[in-house]
Amino acid sequence: MKLRLADGVKFAAAGVILVVALIAGVAPFSKTFIEHWSRRDVEARSRLVYNAIQGPVSHALATGDMDRLGSIFDGVAQDNRILAVGLCDPSGRLLKPTKLMPPTFSCDNLPDEEAGNFSTLTRGRQNILVGTFPLAEQSGKAHLIILHDLSFIDVRSDTAQTFVALTFAGFAVVIAGIAAIFVFFMLRGWMRSLQMAVEDVRSGRPLSPERRELTPIDAQIQTLLREIGRVPFETTQIDWNPDALQRLLHDALPGAEVLIVANREPYIHIRTGQKVTVQTPASGLVSALEPVMRACGGTWIAHGSGNADRETVDRNDKIAVPPQDPAYTLRRIWLTDEEQDGYYYGLANEGLWPLCHIAFVRPTFREEDWHAYEIVNERFADAVAQEARTEDPIVLVQDYHFALAPRMIRERLPRATIITFWHIPWPNAETFGICPWKERIIEGLLGSTILGFHTQFHCNNFFETVDRYVESRIDRERATVTLGGHETMVRPYPISIEWPPRALASQPPVETCRAEVRRDLGLPPDIKLAVGIERFDYTKGLLDRMKAVDALLTSTPSWKGHFVFVQVAAPTRSKLFAYSNLQNEAEALVEEINQRHGEGDYKPILLIVRHHEHDEVFKLFRAADLCIVSSLHDGMNLVAKEFVAARDDEQGVLVLSSFTGASREMSEALIVNPYHAQEMAQAIETALSMPAQEQRERIRVMRQQVQERNVYRWAGRMLLDAAQVRQRQRILDIGNRNREQ
Ligand code: G6P
Repeated sequence: MKLRLADGVKFAAAGVILVVALIAGVAPFSKTFIEHWSRRDVEARSRLVYNAIQGPVSHALATGDMDRLGSIFDGVAQDNRILAVGLCDPSGRLLKPTKLMPPTFSCDNLPDEEAGNFSTLTRGRQNILVGTFPLAEQSGKAHLIILHDLSFIDVRSDTAQTFVALTFAGFAVVIAGIAAIFVFFMLRGWMRSLQMAVEDVRSGRPLSPERRELTPIDAQIQTLLREIGRVPFETTQIDWNPDALQRLLHDALPGAEVLIVANREPYIHIRTGQKVTVQTPASGLVSALEPVMRACGGTWIAHGSGNADRETVDRNDKIAVPPQDPAYTLRRIWLTDEEQDGYYYGLANEGLWPLCHIAFVRPTFREEDWHAYEIVNERFADAVAQEARTEDPIVLVQDYHFALAPRMIRERLPRATIITFWHIPWPNAETFGICPWKERIIEGLLGSTILGFHTQFHCNNFFETVDRYVESRIDRERATVTLGGHETMVRPYPISIEWPPRALASQPPVETCRAEVRRDLGLPPDIKLAVGIERFDYTKGLLDRMKAVDALLTSTPSWKGHFVFVQVAAPTRSKLFAYSNLQNEAEALVEEINQRHGEGDYKPILLIVRHHEHDEVFKLFRAADLCIVSSLHDGMNLVAKEFVAARDDEQGVLVLSSFTGASREMSEALIVNPYHAQEMAQAIETALSMPAQEQRERIRVMRQQVQERNVYRWAGRMLLDAAQVRQRQRILDIGNRNREQ
């Protein structure tokens, strides 16, 4: 490609050089030629005049008619090229010279005839051709003298020289013009080839033969395309695990640096009296990303929220984690109470959280929260720029806490690959229109290279929202949005959990779990147990599942004494009224239902409000007969996936809300509408009486699904897409560089 472009440029340059050389070489030659030619012309004229008048002149001379001689000469001198005419008699006198005969002319030094008839006389800057012609013998040794002014030759040769120069200059312009047209068409063809080749790769088409062989962009582009081809695209054939993810990073993104921006930190240091303990938070986001970071290494930038966080970091606010087996770095950011109130509790959790979840809790938007949100997003973007060791790191921005950060990071690191994942649902355009800063949020997110949601449905909602509120170009076929010249890919990447789950490794056999959990909860060994485990959040439908238990015991009282529902709820965002109120309502409802259906020691619902570590959660899952996930709205819901992952005995039933992203993938669960207590009660009853074989069939399919579509695949697919975007960017960079040359 370079060669052909260079050919065009060389062709133009050679043409111009040739023409300049011609002008330099031919122009002086043309002057000499014209001078020579003009002089010959004048000489011929002199001879002509001589031949014409020699008869009458000889006659006048012979008859001594000097008047006649004078008038012949005057007549000849009329010709404006002839300067003067005269006659040199044998004694060397000049007879009858015409008016303009130079006074310096003398008959003494006439050229001898052997030397020809002509000589040159110079008068000032004037050159004069002196023609000397012998007259007839009878005239004695007289000579006719004809003087021609040669000045016109200079004028003529100068004109000729100018003409030649102009002609060649014209040629030069024409050649340069042809070369320019040649280069223009070549560049256009090359651009088209580049676009088509990139298009081919983008759409996964093989390069057509003519594009492979004939285009001028062959060598470099094809090398790069082959490199892209080397990226392991057959994702379905990959056994996704930490090694595969590491290999992917190594092969497809060699040398890439990974940075995560997430509000919640994976390890929280808590001081109780003299003791500092480490807690892993109850967060879907943390469960998903932590194993990815273990595999990839890098830096996780998060809010340091534990009361012993400051005393456990180094002087750069960093700590190597996991504490027992460090694999990556946690960089903590400190927020003031005001910042946390505005950014986290306010805008993120009282504004965006209820806005994006259909749970009928009114979102609240306050100007001061928005300002805090902007400031904190800036702080995290600054931290990314500070932590980045390279100019093009891979930055994984997480969730609704950081809608503005992608654009801010792009401003600081224009070459970064920014992958933003929105862990919660994206509402329809009309709902999102409630947000007073909707345009800013969309623009912020569109600073990303890739923007991921759990489902295609949420991607579609996002496209519609962008379409309605922001001037941009949406390409639905390629699933991209271009804003201000920057393109963002918008794709679904269903999140998942690690496989095999780490917490499973240390678990006792299911029978032991069943026995120990029942014993610890003070329940009879043979009681049927349903569990629900999550954060105490109003989107999770906790009250609804309690009402379903109520409905079950009302419709089928025979379950009383034989069935218990254990709800583990980790306190979360308790500072907010919606959350503290939920806790109060839940406690009151449990009380009411237990009173209605309980008897003696028997309480149908146990509500345990405290944080559980992964091991405890898995033990509970393994002890249960069924798990209830009744979210009113949920981006994915990883509890559902963890439950089936925990059941390596292939027993247990999952009751799953149809309003979770997980229900799209786990259709072998008993799918329910959490708003319909009777329907959910019916599903619980079905689960309680489901034969072991049916349980096995269902859970086996779901386990296989979670195993294959695990969190390494989630991260891997995003990183693969990022690798392709980076390759494409490299191609475009090469194209731009070539065009600049
Ligand atoms: C949801 C959000 C996560 C968040 C988690 C816990 O899963 O999508 O971003 O980490 O809730 O919420 P918290 O406010 O305790 O971090």
